[in-house]
Amino acid sequence: MPRRPKITIVGGGNVGSSCALWAASKELGDIVVLDIPQAENAIKGKMLDLAQCGPIERFDSKITGTANYEDIADSDVVVITAGLPRKPGMSRDDLVDTNVKIVRSVSENVKKYAPNSVVIVVSNPLDAMVYTAWKTTGFPTERIVGQAGCLDVARYRTFIAWEIGCSVEDVQALLLGGHGDDMVPLPRYTSVHGVPVSQLLSAEKINACVERAKVGGGEIVKLLGTSAYYAPASGVIQMVEAIVKDKKRILPCAAYCDKEYKVGGYFVGVPCVLGAKGVEKIVEIEMSPDETKLMDTSIEHVKELVGLVKKLYPQL
Ligand code: LAC
Repeated sequence: MPRRPKITIVGGGNVGSSCALWAASKELGDIVVLDIPQAENAIKGKMLDLAQCGPIERFDSKITGTANYEDIADSDVVVITAGLPRKPGMSRDDLVDTNVKIVRSVSENVKKYAPNSVVIVVSNPLDAMVYTAWKTTGFPTERIVGQAGCLDVARYRTFIAWEIGCSVEDVQALLLGGHGDDMVPLPRYTSVHGVPVSQLLSAEKINACVERAKVGGGEIVKLLGTSAYYAPASGVIQMVEAIVKDKKRILPCAAYCDKEYKVGGYFVGVPCVLGAKGVEKIVEIEMSPDETKLMDTSIEHVKELVGLVKKLYPQL
């Protein structure tokens, strides 16, 4: 009998709990949420609470809260959300010292207990944390991927739809680069049910949506006092669904690029085919000189961040 996919989420904070909620509501598989021993009771309680939505929301997913890494054995997908979120006034990059320690320790356990999983990293600063997880697990590059583009492009699509007054579902868009304020939304690859966005909005209005998306994370931190979590988790679960259902979706993800986009061996946001094997292909698109320049700036930023990680841990 085929078994249900097993989805592990490491870190039971706002992002991790929201991932569990979206995954259960879509009945994507059995779910394990692992937190630190000090939070063991809390995570058990939260997951018991979530499991009791099953009869109403119509899912039979088995849902487990735990602090024991043995419970993640045989996971098909592991989502790493562990780490500190941003506080007002902080950039994602300010988290590097603390979060690299956490992501390293989590990754060592993932390597030991879930050696065949596809790993999705969400912790910030995202591009450097994906790199850390890759180096620490030693997993093949197709099984390590970062969530950022799904969130960033969802923000951009939302703003475009609000501006036009159309359904968010009908806005298709592409976004490249790192998960920093220099990410690269691409208006030339943005359409509304096939109609180029440039026919529906002025360049000025499109640009306002681009700029708002680029600082979209910070806008929420300022209001909320901590990082966003519903939409980041939704972005994660879009990726999990593509993997556990082997959908071969094309989604913007932080994937390992060497020759692709002339990145030279770093994880950067690019359009990927996501399926059961993880990142099954990177899609290269044509870019104008201006777009290439923006992408190159974003790649340089990612390299600087990884440089910070390597300074802290030269073995990575
Ligand atoms: C954001 C954080 C999660 O963009 O990076 O909201």
